[in-house]
Amino acid sequence: DKKIIIAIDGHSSCGKSTMAKSLAQRLGYVYIDTGAMYRVVTLVALRNGWIENKIPDTQKVIDGLKDIKITFQWDEKAGKNTTFLNGENVEDEIRQLEVSENVSPISTIAEVRHEMVRQQRENGINKGIVMDGRDIGTVVFPDAELKIFMTASPEIRAQRRYLELTEKGDNVNFEEILANVEGRDKIDSTRAVSPLKRADDALILDNSELTREQQLDWAVKKVKEIT
Ligand code: C5P
Repeated sequence: DKKIIIAIDGHSSCGKSTMAKSLAQRLGYVYIDTGAMYRVVTLVALRNGWIENKIPDTQKVIDGLKDIKITFQWDEKAGKNTTFLNGENVEDEIRQLEVSENVSPISTIAEVRHEMVRQQRENGINKGIVMDGRDIGTVVFPDAELKIFMTASPEIRAQRRYLELTEKGDNVNFEEILANVEGRDKIDSTRAVSPLKRADDALILDNSELTREQQLDWAVKKVKEIT
């Protein structure tokens, strides 16, 4: 089978990473979570006090980029990816609501996107990769052999996120999460630099009514049709 690039884009919390991860595992491909990369930059900005009332000090964030090294490690046992900032495991911290609430403003900064996209393209050199995000099929890999655009209703997405966080023991409120999901959709879809939009050649997958297995089977079938 020939190796391809698989680009998965879509709205916040609609299961992109779950699907991308299991697809990569099934195919023996590398998985890259680009949202985690924007979250790491946001975490650094929060730690250094470069964000006030959700408004980042753009210049400080840009200057700080050179000191941020993002790496991933695949945890075979847990079947999940772990994200590192300069060697520090920040996987749990970048998923917290404070980061979620500040990540969209950070990801509107053109220089931040430019640097992240550069790193993402490096990962795709050898193909055999599944990457998920907002602009993978449109900007990062416009020539990807398979593009999938995932979505589900905001309520279903907020409900899934709520379960995920409460299972981890976080004390969160459903309304707050729903507001966050809808707020991120709005900023992500309307920003000037690489807004979230479906690439013309992306296949749509609305998973509101689908199980994880059904989604994976659908995607594997699409891959087999090409490779
Ligand atoms: O995928 P996840 O929800 O973790 O992404 C967090 C945020 O990072 C998104 O809401 C979006 O603002 C930003 N993002 C982006 N481009 C990507 C991936 C994520 O702007 N390729």
